[in-house]
Amino acid sequence: MNLLHLRGAGADVVLDTSTGVPAIVHWGAPLGDVDPASVVTAAARTVTHGSLDVIAPVTVVPEHGSGWQGRPGLAGNRPGGRAWSPRFTTESVRHDGTAVEVVGIDRVAELRLVTRLELDEVLVARCTLTNTGSSRYLLDALTITLPVPVHASDLMSFTGRWTRELHPVRTTWATGAHVVENRRGRTSHEHPPLVYAGAPGFGEWQGEVWGAHLAWSGDHALLAECLPDGRRYLQLGELLHPGEVALEPGASYTTPEVIATYDEHGLTPASWHHHRSVRGRASHPTTPRPVLVNTWEAVYFDHDTARLQQLATAAADLGIERFVLDDGWFGSRRDDRRGLGDWVVSRDVYPDGLAPLISHVRSLGMEFGIWVEPEMVNPDSDLYRAHPEWALVTEGYEPVLGRHQLVLDLADPGAYAHVFGQLDALLRDHDISYLKWDMNRDHVQGSGADGAAGTHAQTLAVYRLLDELQARHPGVEIESCSSGGARIDLEILRRTQRVWTSDCNDALERQTIQRGASLFVPPELMGAHIGPPRSHTTGRTHTLAFRAITAMFGHLGVEWNVLDLDEGDREQLRSFIALHRRFRPLLHSGDVVRFDPVLNGTEVASHAHGVYAPDRSEALVALVQLRTGMSLAPPPVRLPGLDADRRYRVSVVDTGTRHWGPSRTMPSWVTDGVVLTGRQLAVHGLQPPAMHPETALLVHLVAEG
Ligand code: DGJ
Repeated sequence: MNLLHLRGAGADVVLDTSTGVPAIVHWGAPLGDVDPASVVTAAARTVTHGSLDVIAPVTVVPEHGSGWQGRPGLAGNRPGGRAWSPRFTTESVRHDGTAVEVVGIDRVAELRLVTRLELDEVLVARCTLTNTGSSRYLLDALTITLPVPVHASDLMSFTGRWTRELHPVRTTWATGAHVVENRRGRTSHEHPPLVYAGAPGFGEWQGEVWGAHLAWSGDHALLAECLPDGRRYLQLGELLHPGEVALEPGASYTTPEVIATYDEHGLTPASWHHHRSVRGRASHPTTPRPVLVNTWEAVYFDHDTARLQQLATAAADLGIERFVLDDGWFGSRRDDRRGLGDWVVSRDVYPDGLAPLISHVRSLGMEFGIWVEPEMVNPDSDLYRAHPEWALVTEGYEPVLGRHQLVLDLADPGAYAHVFGQLDALLRDHDISYLKWDMNRDHVQGSGADGAAGTHAQTLAVYRLLDELQARHPGVEIESCSSGGARIDLEILRRTQRVWTSDCNDALERQTIQRGASLFVPPELMGAHIGPPRSHTTGRTHTLAFRAITAMFGHLGVEWNVLDLDEGDREQLRSFIALHRRFRPLLHSGDVVRFDPVLNGTEVASHAHGVYAPDRSEALVALVQLRTGMSLAPPPVRLPGLDADRRYRVSVVDTGTRHWGPSRTMPSWVTDGVVLTGRQLAVHGLQPPAMHPETALLVHLVAEG
């Protein structure tokens, strides 16, 4: 047996590399100084009657041929159906600090599999399969498998839709498989590639949890299976369409990364590992996240230079730092039926080009950003009329439209060069420092030039386009938008500096959406806007305080026609922007905390979340009344995780509004503040006053001394 013991931040991994694909013998709590062989001995299962004479290990790519009876990690075949069930033997093992690379070969199937695992804040796994034979190997699936212990019997997966992203779904995972398959050609609203398994009843601050995310922006499959023998595993990988990846002799396929987190103490600390690992990437922005104004819900397609200049002036006066011109500035794009693909400034709307608007914005001290949707084309566009062959469709079939548009086949060198050229010219010819990169439809039946399914190649081409544009224009930041949050994943975030979390600016909905996103995306990358009083997507009306307190926990923006504000709103908005900017260093570098909601009567009516400074010297927490509860006063909110022995001065942040509740008397900590130890805050917490539904209180905690 060849065993390796990796130690990460709060998690250990013990690997058996004696089979051609490493088996994870332990992924979980730090084990201290142990002999890894004893870990294997302790975990060994007995062979029972009625079973094979071997117990196939849960390797990173489990093999049917080794006796594994769950879903194999590798599926494919050669002509005639051969090589369908490979078994690898170890060719080499390289252990280099935090990383391990195991090379496995199968001389019968003529395949070579390189598995790479790295453990630091998170566990990262990826494989590369190479066809070493002389015939074509048709790959159906290459997925990464991670074992979780038998007692991880609770599962949290995620669902959503447009304007309702990243909603958690909790299930007890008794037996059988939980399957999530995404065939939408983008990360999707419906099937976020994220799953957490945990000890029964795991919560934000208790219970062991194992979380896994597939860093990929195309199709994917997630499986969480409990085998009949009780063993459990998570399996994540790209979902390949039939024939989509055919490996010619010598060719390789590399999986997306699976990025996994473990923590002994629940979801909140588990998500810190994700955040810390993302914050450590080279692509992570290091400058303060500029508060932005986005023109979409302010003017939609109604563009007019003079009006937009006024909007910019009003925005700058409010303390806004970046102006983002959304959809409608180019080609024939006067509504959402035409123009996509023609990335040239519309002379009908901007007779003097964009320069007068951009220079006005820049003269106000703001950055200028602009919306693009480079992967798309409307049939009613100059581009489509000139190059209908560049659409990602399948010849002979009437293509299905989405928002009146088709996907452009960016794997086609001509289409790619055209789009790159137009975006490059846009950035070269204008003082633009930010692109809002949108993508507004699912792919259906898209084939590349060879007639085979094209989603895999398209996804890689999009990555390349982003990479090459950023290499050409290194100062430009990019936001990943996809009808709101349909492209939120950690691979797109390697090459973008923000995600548009949702098209829903309704603060009540946002409380859940942002909570879900915070399970793997740090707040400084999560776009959150203050919309108009009446939400455009739900019709609900909220106070400015509720909208602002909700949005200030992300990368703040304003998506509201700020020319329409009365003096009161203008003053309040200005002070909320100032408040965000005051707390921004804490909000965008601290540890995001979520607190488990407590039942009020039979349902949850309130919740709380916030950010703790890494050294626990300060915290900002939002107490949020989501709806009415049986008890008018919500249950106490306990705040674990502060420094137990330090004393914290607790005060309600003055947001210029007292319109949050029907309390006749106010807890004195709300009116006068209080000093409590971290231990008291964890044990007793804070008793909020009675609050109206859809309101929030902002609480500031500062350590004394
Ligand atoms: C969808 C995005 O999510 C919106 O924010 C906006 O940019 C529209 N597209 C523009 O068409």
